[in-house]
Amino acid sequence: MSDTPLYDAYKNFLANAGTPFTVPGHKRNPELIDDLLALDVPHYTGVEDRRVSTKRLATAERIAGELWGADWCGFSVQGSSHGNEAICLSLGKPGDKVIVARTIHKSLFFGIVLAGLVPVWIRPDIDDETGLTAGMPVSRVAAALKEHPDAKAVMLVEPSYVGGVSDVAAHAELAHAHGIPLTVDAAWGAHLGFHPDLPPHAIQAGADVLVTSIHKHMTGFTQSSMVLAQGERIDLERLEAAFEGLHTTSPSGAIFASIDLARDLLQERGEELLGQAIRLAEESRARFRQVPGLGVVGTEIADRSPALFMHDPTKIVLTLSGTGADGQVVADVLEQRGLHLEFADRDTFCPVITLGDTPESVDFMTTEIIRAIEEHRGEPRKLVHTIAWTLDPDTAMTPRDAFFADHERVSAAAAVGRIAAESAVPYPPGVPALAPGERINGDVLTALQAEARSGTRIAYCGDPMLETVLVVKE
Ligand SMILES: Cc1ncc(COP(=O)(O)O)c(C=O)c1O
Repeated sequence: MSDTPLYDAYKNFLANAGTPFTVPGHKRNPELIDDLLALDVPHYTGVEDRRVSTKRLATAERIAGELWGADWCGFSVQGSSHGNEAICLSLGKPGDKVIVARTIHKSLFFGIVLAGLVPVWIRPDIDDETGLTAGMPVSRVAAALKEHPDAKAVMLVEPSYVGGVSDVAAHAELAHAHGIPLTVDAAWGAHLGFHPDLPPHAIQAGADVLVTSIHKHMTGFTQSSMVLAQGERIDLERLEAAFEGLHTTSPSGAIFASIDLARDLLQERGEELLGQAIRLAEESRARFRQVPGLGVVGTEIADRSPALFMHDPTKIVLTLSGTGADGQVVADVLEQRGLHLEFADRDTFCPVITLGDTPESVDFMTTEIIRAIEEHRGEPRKLVHTIAWTLDPDTAMTPRDAFFADHERVSAAAAVGRIAAESAVPYPPGVPALAPGERINGDVLTALQAEARSGTRIAYCGDPMLETVLVVKE
């Protein structure tokens, strides 16, 4: 094992601590709490060597920064959502333009609201066969930069939720030729760059900032995340101030320790374990390909998609429409049988495979999905494209102006053509389909209502069935 200062101090605290006269209020009192709470150790007063020291955290962040080849690294207990917001605050002044992929997660959208940035939206390509997002062409960013030469940054989401990775190196080169940074939301890419068959991570590819969720494709506790930055184009002092300013003052020592441990695992055994994950995903895809009517997306999507540099080979995406089985029904059955899928809507499944998987776990997942599909076969139907990848917004106001504008709640019928004052975000993948400042498109609203009725969670809007919508007052 390499040096793991946070994990070591956390374990030491667990082994030696008595009753602390600090928060948390459970006081580690075994008569009051379940064993679960005994693992809850605050970073400050628990893991650090002195009450307000940041020494151990700074050391662990430095080690992680070195592993990713970054000049600056920040550990977060608030997910990549936190990093996205901090990055937005570091890029410019209110009113500054940024070129942004419209497939962003809602946290980046709210970062834009917080920072008062003005987004110039660009949409990645869509794969006709599957309706999945299929990479951001460099030429599309170049055209946006030509039209908006005053933009202060390019902001991409790489890899996409469904595993596509654009040519980040070419995007970095383009942004740098315009003297601006490239930021990459790599929430789904903590493992990238740590196996020769995986795409490089964004810092290796030359991006200036990368945010990644250690809890998604690595072994960190839920909420663990990291921001990494390099070079002169990012104001590191501002990034750090924003990162600290938006971070809780009571971070969990357990979550921080889990980031330290995840980094260590990646460093010591990453290539071996990721090699296994890639192999298991390949074997699973081969079995799924034997199922009549089931669409299986693998690395070949990159061969037919000019804007895709690579498809993450650990990613399995299934399209069910050709089997006639309803994905929501199949997913419910699978849950009853103890199998939970990361993404499941009527037509698409995305079972996540990571370096935490074993041959047994992947065999169980594959067997059970095939069994449940066979039990629920129906008439093949046309694939409905997930709204998140096909959005082409009509921006009428900046997100910030719309968020703070006087607003009113109106019926869905009356909302069409009005400017949204709230967001509506189907989960997953968490891409805002309606967003403050955008004129409401009737087709998108109808599609969202249908998703809500079919059981998809539509988040962050006052009326989750979207019979009414919050709009800017005229
Ligand atoms: C692209 C993207 N960015 C950011 C996030 C937020 O990550 P977290 O849940 O770690 O806050 C997500 C979450 O799903 C995401 O899909």
